[in-house]
Amino acid sequence: MKGYIDIHSHILPGIDDGARDFETSMKMLKIAEENGIEGIILTPHHKPMRNSAGAGKVKALIDQLDKKSRESGMGIQLYAGNEFYYSSETVHVLEEKQACTMAGSGYVLVEFGPMDELDYIRKGIYQMLLAGYRPILAHAERYGSVCARAEYVEDLIAMGCYIQVNAGSILGQFGWKEKQEVRKLLKKELVHFVATDAHGSQRRTPALLDCARYLEKKYGKEYTERLLHANPMQVIADRYI
Ligand SMILES: [Fe+2]
Repeated sequence: MKGYIDIHSHILPGIDDGARDFETSMKMLKIAEENGIEGIILTPHHKPMRNSAGAGKVKALIDQLDKKSRESGMGIQLYAGNEFYYSSETVHVLEEKQACTMAGSGYVLVEFGPMDELDYIRKGIYQMLLAGYRPILAHAERYGSVCARAEYVEDLIAMGCYIQVNAGSILGQFGWKEKQEVRKLLKKELVHFVATDAHGSQRRTPALLDCARYLEKKYGKEYTERLLHANPMQVIADRYI
């Protein structure tokens, strides 16, 4: 397989609850590189009423981090993104280009509250689709209402939503429940992306290798390649999956 592309990460420094400073960001990039990651979409949180850093700030930080990483001999490609905490403002924020879609494409990474009801999540996804975006549901295994039945996930996919899950959940780092949910989705091939959702260099790191090995063994090389490389490449190229 070619290098992995991590579509969900909090590596940019001092912008959310991810990396604190450039030193941490650089440590995280090194871990990513050691894990065979060749491209990363940087997706700092964008939450309503939180004074989240806008698109300009995200792009400026990426330019700085990119320069530092190249100076230290790393070759990881960095792309701009955001992880939107869905609200009635999300579509407006996107249309005004106040925050970033995924690598400048029509894809948008979106999260909901873990206790949000299925109907609310479905309507939110629908609003984004209506506005012409391609929503990617972040860490789908976290929402009890969505995972209650595989059919609910199938319905979201049929609407035009894409499903991302966290590598750590697959390995059981967030508890038994999320591990069960995520493996259930993988078994039915209801997942489009596995990403790290990395927040630091000590814990919740941008590690993918152990997860990739597990995926290959359990679900085969072909599906693993789609999850970690081919589908992310379609996002970057702004093509349909
Ligand atoms: Fe995240």
